[in-house]
Amino acid sequence: MQVLSLSSSSILLFFFLTSTIPISLAKLTSSQTPKLHHRELSVDYYSKKCPQLENLIGSITSQRFKQAPISAPATIRLFFHDCFVEGCDGSILIETKKGSKRLAEREAYENKELREEGFESIIKAKALVESHCPSRVSCSDILAIAARDFIHLAGGPYYQVRKGRWDGKRSTATKVPQNIPGSNSTVDQLIKLFASKGLTVEDLVVLSGSHTIGFAHCKNFIGRLYNFKGTKRPDPNLDPRLLKELRMSCPFSGGSSGVALPLDTTTPFVFDNGYFTGLGTNMGLLGSDQALFLDPRTKPIVLEMARDNKQKFLKAFGEAMDKMGSIGVKRGRKHGEIRTDCRVFL
Ligand code: HEM
Repeated sequence: MQVLSLSSSSILLFFFLTSTIPISLAKLTSSQTPKLHHRELSVDYYSKKCPQLENLIGSITSQRFKQAPISAPATIRLFFHDCFVEGCDGSILIETKKGSKRLAEREAYENKELREEGFESIIKAKALVESHCPSRVSCSDILAIAARDFIHLAGGPYYQVRKGRWDGKRSTATKVPQNIPGSNSTVDQLIKLFASKGLTVEDLVVLSGSHTIGFAHCKNFIGRLYNFKGTKRPDPNLDPRLLKELRMSCPFSGGSSGVALPLDTTTPFVFDNGYFTGLGTNMGLLGSDQALFLDPRTKPIVLEMARDNKQKFLKAFGEAMDKMGSIGVKRGRKHGEIRTDCRVFL
C-alpha cells in the first residue's frame, strides 16, 4: 500500500484494487424529465463587465491543480455544500465575525471536513479577478466556474457555466444539518432532499458520481467495517478484500482522525465512471453510495452510468452540475450583493 501525504493536516492513504467482476447492465428506467430552473443565469453574463473572467479563474485553477491536486475534490464539494444551503450564493465562504455567537455555515459540523484547499482556491481566484474587474464578479459565480475547471482538469467534462448569481446576505450554521446529507443517509432521505432542491433521482445518482475523485475520513464509514447497523458485524455489501484493506487503515480504535481513503477505490485520481462500476462490485466506500446500488429506484441509473463508455456519464454530469448550480440563485440588491472579499459581507 502506498502512503501519500497531501497536506500537513492529513495523511492520505490510497490503494488500487482492481476488481473486475462484471456487472449486468440495465436500461435507464427513470422517466423523470429534468425540471430546468436556470432563472436568469446566462453564459455570457460577464461578456462586457469582465470579458477575461474565465481565463483569470482558469489561470488560478490550473496552477492550483498542479501544486495541490486535492484542490479539485475540495472545491467541487465546496460548491455542492454552498448550493444546498441557501442556494448557490457563496454563503459557505463567509467567516464568522470575531466574538459573534452567530456561527456562519462553514462552522457547522457537516462542513468541518471541507478542506482549506477549496476555500483557498476561491480566495486566490477572487483576488485576481478583483484586480482586473473590481466589484463586478460575485464569489458564487467564481465558485461555480472554479468547480467546473477542476472537474475538467481532473478529466471530467467541460460544460458552459451560466453566470449572474449574486452573493447572499446570510450565512447561518443552524441551516446546514437539514440540508447536507450524511454518509448514513438512506436513499429515501437522499431522494427527498434532492427533490426539495428541484433535482431528480437521476440528478442524485449522476451528481454522486463526483465521488469518482476525493477522499473520505474513517469516521464516515467505520460503522460499515466493524458494527454495521448494530450487528457487531461488517456490512455484508462490502467487498471482503476491500474490508480487509479498510480495516488496516481504519482500526476499530486508536486510528488517526486525519486518515482519509479514496471514495472511488478503482480509479481514485481520474474523473471517470469508475465510481459506478465500483458500486456494482460492492466497492463503494460510503454506506450512502453503496445504497444507490441496492435501491430499485437508483440501481438502474447506476448501471446505466457504469456502461463501458464513460461519455454518457460525463455528459449527464455536466448537465446535472448546471442544474445544481442554479439552485436558489439570488439576483439584485434586494436579495444579494457582490462581495469584494468572499469571507465577509459588504
Ligand atoms: C448524495 C449525497 C452525498 C453524500 C451523503 C455525500 C457525503 C460525502 C462524505 C461523507 C464525504 C467525505 C468527507 C470526508 O470524510 O472528508 C464526501 C466527499 C466528497 N463529496 Fe460528497 N456527498 C454527497 C453528494 C455529493 C455531491 C452532489 C457532490 C458534488 C457535486 C459531492 C462531492 C464530493 C467530493 C468531491 C468529495 C471529496 C472531497 C475531498 O476529498 O476533499 N458529494 N461526500
